[in-house]
Amino acid sequence: MAGNKTLTMIKPMAVKKGFIGPILAKITEGGFKIVAMKYAKLTLEQAQKFYEVHKERPFYDELTAFMSSGPIVAAILEKENAVEAYRNYIGATDPAKAAPGTIRALYGTNLGMNAVHGSDSDENATIESDFFFSQLERF
Ligand code: CMP
Repeated sequence: MAGNKTLTMIKPMAVKKGFIGPILAKITEGGFKIVAMKYAKLTLEQAQKFYEVHKERPFYDELTAFMSSGPIVAAILEKENAVEAYRNYIGATDPAKAAPGTIRALYGTNLGMNAVHGSDSDENATIESDFFFSQLERF
């Protein structure tokens, strides 16, 4: 059975461009409930840990350097079938290929700076949520 939680991050370039407000509004409009949220800057080591599943990928160093280059907003979102629903809602990984009106099409810069992260499975949603939030920080 599909879970009802996913983990998102608003990435450093989207934060820098002033898109925190519009992205959170869009998330809420999409029917996703914010059950936890924080504004934080990851160290390189923390970004490497978060993206550990991509360790062997050629873009790992670029990705982790970028994700630790400035503050991010992390949030746990709740909705039925959250992982798939949110991935559809944010659009394709590459903003240039994302459907019009999706968060990545509206606020993404390029493949690496694609505005937001979204968990790719229920298992990773749990791992990623536990990375950022204790049980006391979830409402
Ligand atoms: P995200 O959902 O955060 O999960 C992994 C990220 O890797 C992905 O979004 C992209 O931003 C990034 N990514 C994927 N492919 C590439 C690539 N070829 N070059 C740079 N970054 C990439």
